[in-house]
Amino acid sequence: MINELNAARDEALVAIAASNDMEALESLERDVLGKAGPFVAAKKRIGELAPEDRKDAGQAINATRTEVEDAIEARRGTLGASARAAQYANERLDLTEVSTAASVGHAHVVTQTWEELEDIFVGMGFHVAEGPHVETDWHNFDALNIPKGHPARDGFDTLYVNHGEPGSTLLRTHTSPVQIRTMLDQEPPIYIIAPGRVFRRDTADATHMPVFHQIEGLVVDKDISLADLAGTINAFVGTYFGEEVESRLRPNYFPFTEPSAEFDIRRADGSWLEMGGCGMVHPNVLRAGGIDPEEWSGFAFGFGIDRLALMKHGVSDLRELFANDTRFLSQF
Ligand code: DAH
Repeated sequence: MINELNAARDEALVAIAASNDMEALESLERDVLGKAGPFVAAKKRIGELAPEDRKDAGQAINATRTEVEDAIEARRGTLGASARAAQYANERLDLTEVSTAASVGHAHVVTQTWEELEDIFVGMGFHVAEGPHVETDWHNFDALNIPKGHPARDGFDTLYVNHGEPGSTLLRTHTSPVQIRTMLDQEPPIYIIAPGRVFRRDTADATHMPVFHQIEGLVVDKDISLADLAGTINAFVGTYFGEEVESRLRPNYFPFTEPSAEFDIRRADGSWLEMGGCGMVHPNVLRAGGIDPEEWSGFAFGFGIDRLALMKHGVSDLRELFANDTRFLSQF
């Protein structure tokens, strides 16, 4: 019986070494170690042996079977490694390969609009001014003729910053405080625009975002009149939207201008669309900026950059601009 086991083992070892894929090895394993194999058969025959031979026979079965099992495991390891190597070779990506069709990004549609606005106003003789996003309550409100307790403050859902006296520091709710900073910083004549980011405690929907962009305009010079304001708005609208697009001023109220107006543009279908606010700079605002209203006068305007971008491209939902979906953004 021991000779039979050794022969069965030797035969199995040769077959294992010759198996050259996982499937062949596993089928061989079932045949040799399974119920129909020589080791199970030998075990069944132990009972037929003389009692004194049974121990040696049992040990021989276990020893030869273990040798075969070990050989199968070793072969499995070798076949597995070469299968993985083949798979890796197959799936290899050449990361050094440079695509000639690499896509190049471009400025966001809001940035494009912002830059186009700067170009137009710079072309009309304006300079670009800037102010901080984190503002004092004084620059954002008081100096713009909106004292504490003024109802106009409620119109701005202000985000306050936890700094200094409670309520003294905020995220600017509009670009108008740049008017004040500019007047305090330079002598008239002043011709500036101030594009920038503004913040309000608003829930995002199709027409609102808690962060958006405005552009402010401020002119302070001798004998500036409402006609200069209307002419400037008209020139801008004509350049941005095309000569055929008209604009109009409609009386309105803003604390920082007197008189104040809303300016609208006329769309292709004849309807009027509200664009922004404007007016003659209020004497209190000039004074807050250190400018004598007896000597100087001025006009100011402000409107939303994002809204303008939407209008120009016929997009109906403001949130599209900030979802950063390249399928949307790559259109512009
Ligand atoms: N600051 C105003 C707002 O955010 C817009 C505005 C209205 C700006 C009239 C002006 C102006 O300069 O004269 O709603």
